[in-house]
Amino acid sequence: MEKFRSELTKFIDGLYEGDKKVLVHGEGRIGARLMLIGEAPGEQETLQGRPFVGKAGKNLDEFLELVGIDRSELYVSNAVKFRPTRISEAGRIVNRPPTQEEIRLFLPWLKREIGMVGPECVVTLGNVPLKALCDRRVTIGEVHGRFIDCEGLRVYPMYHPASMIYNPALREVYRADVERLAQWLRVSEK
Ligand code: URA
Repeated sequence: MEKFRSELTKFIDGLYEGDKKVLVHGEGRIGARLMLIGEAPGEQETLQGRPFVGKAGKNLDEFLELVGIDRSELYVSNAVKFRPTRISEAGRIVNRPPTQEEIRLFLPWLKREIGMVGPECVVTLGNVPLKALCDRRVTIGEVHGRFIDCEGLRVYPMYHPASMIYNPALREVYRADVERLAQWLRVSEK
């Protein structure tokens, strides 16, 4: 994995020479049963160099704890490995969604990363990783909380944990989806 990370860093450094990007690599156990994939790191993730350690990560941890899944059992990563930003009207650096070009750029790397981790199931968080790995036409609203096959990969789509910040009604849906996932983990344990 170290070799993979340094190759990826070199590749991105070469592309964005004049605009250095700070990469936030995936973290967790190689051979983890579950690999969680988010959209892209935010400010906190970039500062701390770890995925899902900001507000969205706190939401995620809260729900995982509720069903007895520990972060140490997982591998957590993102579809895009640097923070996509723009300047707001107030002149601040804020997050923006990754572009199709950025998602496409990282996709082969993401697939290699999945191959190295070898999870039984990939949990996509939000539309970005779902559409990157599966059909672009599927939407999270249609497929969340059930297992789907994406080119031979078992994928379990869930809403992005930040979506509950903007839409608290999703908390119940999120809880039900995480519970179903935890139950599958228990039942399918070898
Ligand atoms: N949102 C994401 O999609 N990924 C992170 O790592 C943090 C927030």
